Amino acid sequence: MGFFSPVLDTLTLIKNLWSSGFDPVNFIQNSLNTFLPRLSLYALFAALPPYLAYKFIRFIITPLLYKENLSGKIVLIAGASSGIGEHLAYEYARRGSCLVIGARREKIIPVTADVSKVEDCQRLVETAIQHFGRLDHLVNVAGIAPLGLLEELDVVSNFTPSMDINFWGRIVQIASSASWLHVPRFSFYCASKAAVVSFFETLRVEIGSDVGITVVNPGVIESEMTKGKFLMTDGEVRVDQEMRDVQTSVIPVTPVGSCAKAIVDSASRGDRYLTTPSWMRSAFPYRVFSPEILERVNRWFLLPPPGRPATEALSKTVLDISGLKEVLYPPSLLSPDIKVG
Ligand SMILES: NC(=O)c1ccc[n+]([C@@H]2O[C@H](COP(=O)([O-])OP(=O)(O)OC[C@H]3O[C@@H](n4cnc5c(N)ncnc54)[C@H](OP(=O)(O)O)[C@@H]3O)[C@@H](O)[C@H]2O)c1
Repeated sequence: MGFFSPVLDTLTLIKNLWSSGFDPVNFIQNSLNTFLPRLSLYALFAALPPYLAYKFIRFIITPLLYKENLSGKIVLIAGASSGIGEHLAYEYARRGSCLVIGARREKIIPVTADVSKVEDCQRLVETAIQHFGRLDHLVNVAGIAPLGLLEELDVVSNFTPSMDINFWGRIVQIASSASWLHVPRFSFYCASKAAVVSFFETLRVEIGSDVGITVVNPGVIESEMTKGKFLMTDGEVRVDQEMRDVQTSVIPVTPVGSCAKAIVDSASRGDRYLTTPSWMRSAFPYRVFSPEILERVNRWFLLPPPGRPATEALSKTVLDISGLKEVLYPPSLLSPDIKVG
């Protein structure tokens, strides 16, 4: 009994306080507000060294012990008619995988599918299962970049495709660094990518290790998107290379082949996350510890002075004056031509 007496004493104290008009709900909330943040911080400091040691050992050992052989694996890539998806198809094919590739452009792709439609998604998966009898990797690449300040958007539903397409579903999910790095004119794009990350992180909790999930956050990658193919505020998809220059500015664009290789390597290692190129991660500490700095820099750099057109943003002026475009952008991005299907 002696062992439990402090607990019993505390319960008796609470009971007495309660009977004298004491409010236990507020007492618990106030106690948690006072003590829990400190306690969790101490717990984190205590847990961090062994956790980091574990992560480091895993980082060294995993590539030696575990690398999935992709030869003969059945891979479904949704959104493979251009850019990252197209090059993922080449990369998987080079490693001997059997591919089912889908997108909307009929002249380019064998299985036409619009991933914003549930029945098309089902048909894609059924095609893979009927033909090969199983599915090993589901790679969700399809995406579109809506471009525009919220105040310029008259009909909000013009941007709903960005939610329907970017948010769909070993699963390899192409999200974006825009899920945590908030860029003006990409509010719907950033929101859709943050949603997709959150969805697959929750799914990971639900399904445990039964199905591996690799969430990929690309930086700025050579593709039709970085040629300037945007979903405009009027609901039409057009190529606008001037606006591409405003949004991309002097950020070095990663060649799509090396991005595709990094993604397939990461998926075959069973990584949970990949940021490619890895230098994109250098902005992440600012996102965590001083988000105001990132917000201010993005506003100052990417938005023009009040009343001026977007093409007068500092981001484009710096790109034009420095003449760095041909060094920073792969040659394919200098032409506005995209594949028609
Ligand atoms: N490029 C970058 O800098 C960058 C950075 C971060 C994240 N990402 C993400 O990477 C993914 C691939 O984009 P990308 O850069 O390679 O651009 P992209 O060249 O424009 O490729 C987009 C692909 O998605 C497909 N797609 C679009 N809407 C679709 C729909 N409704 N149904 C089926 N397929 C659809 C397109 O095919 P169809 O038009 O034929 O349907 C195309 O194959 C996207 O999710 C994008 O958000 C790109």
